[in-house]
Amino acid sequence: MSATTGESTNYHAGPDAVAVKKSRYRRVAKPRGNFELWSWVFMRATGVLLLVLIFGHLFVNLMLGEGIHAIDFGFVAGKWASPFWQVWDMLMLWFGMLHGFNGVRTIVNDYTEKDGTRWVLKGLLVLATVFSIVLGTLVIFTFDPCIDPSSTLSVCTR
Ligand code: HEM
Repeated sequence: MSATTGESTNYHAGPDAVAVKKSRYRRVAKPRGNFELWSWVFMRATGVLLLVLIFGHLFVNLMLGEGIHAIDFGFVAGKWASPFWQVWDMLMLWFGMLHGFNGVRTIVNDYTEKDGTRWVLKGLLVLATVFSIVLGTLVIFTFDPCIDPSSTLSVCTR
């Protein structure tokens, strides 16, 4: 190391290596662990789960019984009377939102050039994701089909 310039030469990198000048101003990437690897695995895993959840949802709603003609307020009320479909729809919401969130996060990281733009877009993304997950989950579990006292739905007149 030169005492005056603070530079050193890497002599330990093997015979073919190009000597790399190091300076005290050299940028060192912060180690980020395996975060992006796990984020990639998450996209694959949630992709498979979404295939089952989304196509199961479409099959039950559109192929069984009267199909699309049966879908109305009462149909939703009937489905959400069952904890099974409440949990199914909640998982579809959470995995869909988190998968979409992580996918858009990757796209924002890939395409934004300025730090400010990146932080604004990711901030909006977090807000939209949290808002949708909280509101959607509340709707699924607090939904009351008989909130209207004059409702004529069969579940309300029993
Ligand atoms: C059957 C359902 C789905 C499957 C099987 C699926 C599968 C995948 C896979 C494997 C990737 C990673 C692609 C890559 O890294 O090259 C991906 C990326 C992505 N997915 Fe999905 N996905 C599904 C539904 C959704 C839904 C519902 C949304 C939106 C809410 C969504 C939004 C995204 C986004 C934004 C990306 C990132 C694209 C990119 O990196 O260019 N996906 N999806």
